[in-house]
Amino acid sequence: MTNRVKVAVTGAAGQIGYAILFRIASGQMFGPDTEVELQLLELPQALGALEGVKMELDDCAFPLLKNIVCTDKMEVAFKDANWILAIGAVPRKDGMERADLLKVNGGIFGPLGKAMAEHSAPDSKLFVVGNPCNTNCYIAMEASGLDKSRFFAMTTLDEKRAKTQLAQKAGVDVTEVTNMTIWGNHSATQYPDFYNAKIGGKSAAEVIGDETYLKDEFITTVQKRGAAIIKARGASSAASAANACVNGVYALTHDTPAGETFSMCLASKGEYGVDEGLIFSFPCRVENGELKVVEGQEHNEFGQEKFNATLEELRTERNTVKELGLV
Ligand code: NAI
Repeated sequence: MTNRVKVAVTGAAGQIGYAILFRIASGQMFGPDTEVELQLLELPQALGALEGVKMELDDCAFPLLKNIVCTDKMEVAFKDANWILAIGAVPRKDGMERADLLKVNGGIFGPLGKAMAEHSAPDSKLFVVGNPCNTNCYIAMEASGLDKSRFFAMTTLDEKRAKTQLAQKAGVDVTEVTNMTIWGNHSATQYPDFYNAKIGGKSAAEVIGDETYLKDEFITTVQKRGAAIIKARGASSAASAANACVNGVYALTHDTPAGETFSMCLASKGEYGVDEGLIFSFPCRVENGELKVVEGQEHNEFGQEKFNATLEELRTERNTVKELGLV
């Protein structure tokens, strides 16, 4: 029997949208045996551009792509959707306070959560890319009233960035780097954990043997990679963000290779002392179709300090959205 998934994509005519839709339609997100229907959401002013993207998708004659819907209405885009990829969001502009950013995105993600509950498939899941992705996801989750296990936000791009940095520093192939966990928030406080990451099965910190580099340059390079790309390209990362989203959803829908973990922001059940319900990035595995947070990883004093800082930031964001009445 052939599987079929309905995938809603918000912000579909944006940069990431343009890079991701062709990869979903070609089967890279759900695998070669799963047909896809794309339900694309945009703001009214971007519907013209979205129509052009649809024409290009048609022109690819993808064998797995069975339908494309373009709309500016959430209830149409989310109708019976199995996955909602929330890419559209309002970016931070110069002079904008974090509270303003949360407020404006709360205006998108509150209604999005409600529309998900009302219109999407009973098994639907939300994967948030649009920033601030952890807290946007939290707002949608709270607004939806749905089971918290259906909500995710993306630190996959940070994980991939960190893997490549470690591989290049160690002079090994990127496939040698495993268990690269990003802890916490997809923000400048994220902690790319080089102590628990492995190179060729050994601690990355031991293999590289230069803790000064790891604690300083490595972490800052990963945290500031987005800004470096904007500086070089004149536009924010799009193809790599789309790639990360493809890989992130693939990781959630396929069993994880033996010994490997992947980073995913999801609602804490209290693992590692993280407040229940916070959307926090943890090391994860899927086994026999079941997603779990990998427990038992240890942090030294440096790691615990980084962990606490990113946890504290997420608590503050949650408290701000509560104070603003967004949840
Ligand atoms: P973009 O500005 O090119 O595209 C965003 C699109 O969303 C636009 O076409 C806009 O019309 C649409 N949009 C805005 N509000 C919407 C709404 N309420 N409903 C439907 N569509 C809406 O931006 P880009 O480069 O595609 O990035 C999208 C988001 O992804 C940004 O928030 C960015 O910060 C975030 N991002 C997240 C990453 C992560 O690792 N989590 C990595 C890279 C980007």
